[in-house]
Amino acid sequence: MARIPLCIPELGGNAAAYLNECLQTNWVSSVGPFVSRFEREFAARVESPHAVACASGTAAIHLALLATGVQPGDEVWVSDLTFIASANPARYCGASVTLVDSEADTWNLDPQLVVDELEARAKRGDRMPAAIVAVHLLGHPPQLAPVLEAAAARGVPVIEDAAEALGATWNRGPIAGRQAGSVSTIGCFSFNGNKVITSGGGGMLVTGDESLATRARHLSTQAKIPGVAYRHDEVAYNYRLTNLAAALGVAQLERLDEYLDRKRAISERYDEAFRGLAGMTTPPRQDWARSSVWLYSPLFATGQVRERVRLALAAADIEARPVWTPLHQQPPYAASSVLGGGFVASDLASRALSLPSSVGLTDQEQQEVVGVVSDALTART
Ligand SMILES: Cc1ncc(COP(=O)(O)O)c(C=O)c1O
Repeated sequence: MARIPLCIPELGGNAAAYLNECLQTNWVSSVGPFVSRFEREFAARVESPHAVACASGTAAIHLALLATGVQPGDEVWVSDLTFIASANPARYCGASVTLVDSEADTWNLDPQLVVDELEARAKRGDRMPAAIVAVHLLGHPPQLAPVLEAAAARGVPVIEDAAEALGATWNRGPIAGRQAGSVSTIGCFSFNGNKVITSGGGGMLVTGDESLATRARHLSTQAKIPGVAYRHDEVAYNYRLTNLAAALGVAQLERLDEYLDRKRAISERYDEAFRGLAGMTTPPRQDWARSSVWLYSPLFATGQVRERVRLALAAADIEARPVWTPLHQQPPYAASSVLGGGFVASDLASRALSLPSSVGLTDQEQQEVVGVVSDALTART
């Protein structure tokens, strides 16, 4: 049996034709028709007025923080359980990071912790955070409506890190029907090779505020003044996406709905196969949201059981990966304050395991994964 990877892209459709078009027209670098086309079509797909294509999801988050005015000495709140790139850009800005523990229902930042702390600071007259970065972990949207309301009341910008959640939506409440990444001050996406769609590497920043989009685009192009030869009005960054990457991104975006259907079907098949199995629970799927199910990640009874399953999968040449290590356990963030203490995030991280979730995962491969997981759970230790 061939190795079953965790999450690899499927590069069909118009990818080769569009990449060839770049080569034939000599538009390969950070200017070209595919960059603006990708921005236009992406903005339309996530129903956000403005989109700025970036070199990576990390660059998009950095630009989002800069555009919203984060300064050295500021404080930025970030979900504790996430990939480190959700938090690093705050540090690039010279800000400190305060982490927010997870809620068990979605594994995302606990909205009550955010609302309570904002309220407590307001009562005491304490300084507010300069921004809140709310992650859509593994593709599942957070309970963002209460966070948006409390943050807006205090003038705190909210940045959605929707790197893993392209195509996810909310189904109920004040933001029902809205796309992940489109409801806050700025939303950020990643097109890294393992994401819902890929451009080889890249990211996108979306916003409803034209001045923020203009500012982010300016900062992404070395703050070059348009129309004037090599005049720059501040120190900035080379964060633009290349036309080659955008060409691949456009081709992938054309297939997004098909990919989402397949990811959701994979998740439903896993749920069905694992339902009732002792020693594990299926991942959170709240009926008020529709996840992209970027990575299907069940929770095992204990860390030891998780490790037993992971090793059994590895022995069968099946790639499975623990979810992110909470940021408060990582050396660069060990000194950060953690609203809620980080106990929920630690517990989830110690017991969760992401299973193969590629859009091209075949039924037979999935049955093999299910078989190994089930055998490992029922095996006597
Ligand atoms: C939650 C999250 N935020 C940010 C990023 C950073 O994106 P990129 O790798 O494109 O810089 C990723 C993925 O890599 C991610 O999973």
